[in-house]
Amino acid sequence: MKRIYLSSPHLGEREMVYVKEAFDSNWIAPVGENINRFQRQLETYLGNHVEVTALSSGTAAIHLALVMLGVNSGDEVICQSFTFAASVNPILYQHAIPVLIDSEEDTWNMSPEHLERAILHRERKGKKPRAIILVDLFGMPAKMNELITLAQQHEIPVIEDAAEALGSQYDGRACGSFGQMGVLSFNGNKIITCSSGGALVSTNHNYVQQAKFYAGQAKEPGAFYQHSRIGYNYQLSNILAGIGCGQMEVLDARIARRREIKSLYRQELADIEGISFHSEPDERFFSNDWLTVIILDTHKLKATPLQIVETLNRQEIECRPVWNPMHRQPVFADAPYYGSGVCERIFAHGLCLPSGSNLSNEDIQRVAAALKVALN
Ligand SMILES: Cc1ncc(COP(=O)(O)O)c(C=O)c1O
Repeated sequence: MKRIYLSSPHLGEREMVYVKEAFDSNWIAPVGENINRFQRQLETYLGNHVEVTALSSGTAAIHLALVMLGVNSGDEVICQSFTFAASVNPILYQHAIPVLIDSEEDTWNMSPEHLERAILHRERKGKKPRAIILVDLFGMPAKMNELITLAQQHEIPVIEDAAEALGSQYDGRACGSFGQMGVLSFNGNKIITCSSGGALVSTNHNYVQQAKFYAGQAKEPGAFYQHSRIGYNYQLSNILAGIGCGQMEVLDARIARRREIKSLYRQELADIEGISFHSEPDERFFSNDWLTVIILDTHKLKATPLQIVETLNRQEIECRPVWNPMHRQPVFADAPYYGSGVCERIFAHGLCLPSGSNLSNEDIQRVAAALKVALN
């Protein structure tokens, strides 16, 4: 039986053209025309006068954003708890302290109410947070209006982790373009991929220039290399950027298909009582539907998400529980947390369904049929 994956790479027809160009021109290096082209494509796509620098990963982009904001040992950085560990790990790379925040029920992203509570409490303790990392989880934009307003009122810079949300929008504005800096990921499971890769996005030219500098080992110009700062090897390869150039040409089609897949699941599962979908709260929110996520009402349904994952795995279908919140992770056990149980509840009941744009309608029907049996 063919295995159905959660979200596997879906290549178009022109990635190899650009990769071959890198070989033909011998720019087998972290510089070259594919990188320039990929950055321009992203800038045009995101609009809003952003500039983009391509990097080796989304994690590298978050790390550099923290470095550029001057986050250092002992500083506090606020981050959404309900996310993948890569949103938080770079805070620890800087020996800073994560302050974790619960989600709200509508988008499942950072709760403005708990964010405000946390900022006021940390300020009272004399520890004004140095940055806020927002996340657009599963492609769903966070409540930008409320969150950015709070950040501005308290003069705290925002990093938008849009690793999962390329192509999503809030109020007509592209995710990744909010806050002082935005972050994208082109890891193999994302809506488009370079196999691995990431980008830092900003309307501030200085941040983008500095990110390029730090990502290239902080080499100061001159006949010999002079280093006054610690640098990193975070540049994207020109070969991988070639994959990205081809992928950008099919991005809109990939988003359309992911959204269609969610609609198909809605139709196929409409007759099961006790399933609800992670959904856009109102017309301001446009999700790329990177993953279709459902909530199982375990009073009405017989199986838990973990049981479903196991049962469907035996049928060669890959489902996953949602992210286990960061405040529950042993490695972040000491981090202060502000919340009221929302992301714990989503974790206990949430299930990610196979959502890759390369899945056929028959694949989705096979998943839905297996799910129905498993739930009964
Ligand atoms: C929410 C989130 N943030 C950050 C990352 C890190 O991106 P990368 O894998 O490119 O380092 C990922 C994905 O891996 C992610 O899902």
